[in-house]
Amino acid sequence: MMFDQAAKLRTIAARHRDDGGTTTPLRIITITSGKGGVGKSTLSLNLSLALAAQGKKVLLVDADSNLANLDVLLGMTPTYRLSHVLRGEKSIEEAAVPVWKGMKILPGSSGDIRFPLIDTEVQLKLFEDLRALQNTFDFILLDTGAGLNSEVVTSILNTDETIVITTPEPTAVMDAYAVIKTVCLESGGKLDLKLIVNAAWSPLDAEETGRKLQMVVSHFLKTQIHYLGFVPYDKNVHHAVVEQQPVYLKFPRSASATSIQKIAQTLIRQPKISYQERVAVK
Ligand SMILES: Nc1ncnc2c1ncn2[C@@H]1O[C@H](COP(=O)(O)OP(=O)(O)OP(=O)(O)O)[C@@H](O)[C@H]1O
Ligand SMILES: [Mg+2]
Repeated sequence: MMFDQAAKLRTIAARHRDDGGTTTPLRIITITSGKGGVGKSTLSLNLSLALAAQGKKVLLVDADSNLANLDVLLGMTPTYRLSHVLRGEKSIEEAAVPVWKGMKILPGSSGDIRFPLIDTEVQLKLFEDLRALQNTFDFILLDTGAGLNSEVVTSILNTDETIVITTPEPTAVMDAYAVIKTVCLESGGKLDLKLIVNAAWSPLDAEETGRKLQMVVSHFLKTQIHYLGFVPYDKNVHHAVVEQQPVYLKFPRSASATSIQKIAQTLIRQPKISYQERVAVK
């Protein structure tokens, strides 16, 4: 698979180097997995809420152009969606919907045949617009679709950090590794990668999965992926989906909600490698 991103990435980087060298506090994070159905949408939604609970201003973007469904998880019917923004009909702030505390969502556009995210130029313009919100948000999380496609790769290469989600199943771990390998090769290894193990049966199960993936990434790709923590398999996640409410709000004392809270705190504590440093033009 060929990705023609490097030149565009450098163009954007050069533009952002004009800010006098100051590092923006805004952290734009791509949530990805490789394998589908491992919990990207569940974790990006509940992690956004957990960050908001810590006083952070958060925008969650449903960037899954294939099957966006965060609005369904929230039981809402939005007026405007990401497609309106991409077509230039609405600004991000006009389309974003407040959810809870300082958290807003930019709903996705599942089934909209005029949805143009697949166009790289349009996608890069979206990242520029998101970066311009540096005084409005502390975190912007992008929930992406499953699979290794140019849309996901472009998102990873043009955001500050990447959170890779995997379950302990070997198939999910292999697909996560495939994504990490591709984006490492595309970026020259300059990515800020983080890992969450979801739906683990025990802390040991999760930690072993994390350790194995860290080992292969470090051995074969000569780069690091930081283990942010794990979320146990929890039937409350399913109950919350049925009620169309996030588990973090519906069952705040559940095992999944408390572990997501811990992950949010770890994420806040993590210093980020500045975007400027990461994509510095050689
Ligand atoms: N920690 C968990 N415990 C139990 N069930 C979970 C957990 N996390 C997610 N699930 C369930 O797994 C299924 C898939 O979750 P989700 O939709 O978040 O995955 P996804 O990676 O976004 O999928 P897709 O690739 O289709 O976008 C859902 O039914 C969800 O309720
Ligand atoms: Mg999803």
